[in-house]
Amino acid sequence: MLDKKVIELLNDQVNKEMYSAYLYLDFSNYFKHVGLDGFANWYEVQAKEEMDHAMLFVKYLQNNNVAVELAAIAKPDVKLTDTMTVLKAGLKHEEYVTDLIHTIYDAASKVKDFRTTQFLDWFVKEQGEEETNANDMISKMELFGGDARALYLLDSELKSRAYSAPSLVL
Ligand code: FEO
Repeated sequence: MLDKKVIELLNDQVNKEMYSAYLYLDFSNYFKHVGLDGFANWYEVQAKEEMDHAMLFVKYLQNNNVAVELAAIAKPDVKLTDTMTVLKAGLKHEEYVTDLIHTIYDAASKVKDFRTTQFLDWFVKEQGEEETNANDMISKMELFGGDARALYLLDSELKSRAYSAPSLVL
């Protein structure tokens, strides 16, 4: 049986990942509305990945005989005013999620729950990639966002991001 605090944090993470999906769906809707279909696609794929993350936490809890408790998903709370604001909010959110994953990892380590730390190893690596991706988006926007033709090409590049299922299977 998993430790009570670890269960609570893992269960909360289901909601945090679903909120991430909601937040990125909101970003995607914003970009669709302003005509940046490539950015919209990029965040739609991101939203799907976040739902996968939520399901991985659900499956892990189920596999450990824990009754998963679902909570309401909050309304996305980022003011979507312009592209750079959205991209920076994305990075800030990923840094927050990294902290959440590290907090669960820390709680599991304290009770020598190596099954959970091993499960979380995938997420620790994934968060590194998520932060890199978010930083790259900001860098590209800083470089090319001010030029209409370059922005058009960047948007076209982002259209090519395709969804693929997570490499971690439970
Ligand atoms: Fe599920 Fe973007 O972290």
